Amino acid sequence: MKGVILAGGLGTRLRPLTLVTNKHLLPVYDKPMIYYPIECLLNAGIDEILIVTGGEHAGDFLKLLKNGKHLGLRELSYTYQEGEGGIADALLLAEDFADGDKICVVLGDNIIEKHIRGPVGEFFTQRHGARIVLKEVDDPQRFGVPRFEDGKVAEIIEKPQDPPSNYAVTGIYMFDSGVFDIARELEPSDRGELEITDVNNVYLNRGDLTYSVLDGWWTDAGTFESLHRAAGMVRDGGANKVEPEPAAVLHG
Ligand code: G1P
Repeated sequence: MKGVILAGGLGTRLRPLTLVTNKHLLPVYDKPMIYYPIECLLNAGIDEILIVTGGEHAGDFLKLLKNGKHLGLRELSYTYQEGEGGIADALLLAEDFADGDKICVVLGDNIIEKHIRGPVGEFFTQRHGARIVLKEVDDPQRFGVPRFEDGKVAEIIEKPQDPPSNYAVTGIYMFDSGVFDIARELEPSDRGELEITDVNNVYLNRGDLTYSVLDGWWTDAGTFESLHRAAGMVRDGGANKVEPEPAAVLHG
């Protein structure tokens, strides 16, 4: 499986910080934001990564990440999104990179406490379709939110005023190679973007969407409030923590 990190956008919610650099290069406690999704993918065994960026400061990524070898990456690729077409539009730029493989997509401002080995392992054995990762939150109206029926996701609603559950669809998604045809067929939403929630709803309506619930905390970092909270969570407990392998049982 290959990894795709979406790190474009103008970061308007973080102006004036984002007037001089890309949002995903801002510090979250002791590291640039983009390090966290990279580590998240690496911890799940994914070391071939494409970064989709955009805007005026895209060159800064190369200065920081170079070829990614010093971070443990086997292969680091970059591509550039023109304009502000949304998450699903950015994803379309990953089609050649994916080259028919399954992909794990992480939004560049998403940070987790632990790891996604479980969901990635389950998707590895899932023959086709997509898998989303959910997390219970206090403010679901800020996110894509699943509505459940008999324990199954019946619909995902983007930023609902009246959320049908307390779960957020996190910015960690796994897709088969059919995702690009789906994204190409989408119509822009009211905010003028191709929405990842619409992609997920297509898989859902085909009966081809599974989900995992994330263990440990999860946060985005795209607003002053969430950026500040993310830095505090990283400082207090650390992010991308991987439990040590269980000790071997010694006999005799
Ligand atoms: C995006 C998605 C939303 C998801 C969120 C996770 O929101 O549209 O469904 O819950 O990322 O971070 P955005 O950051 O574009 O507002």
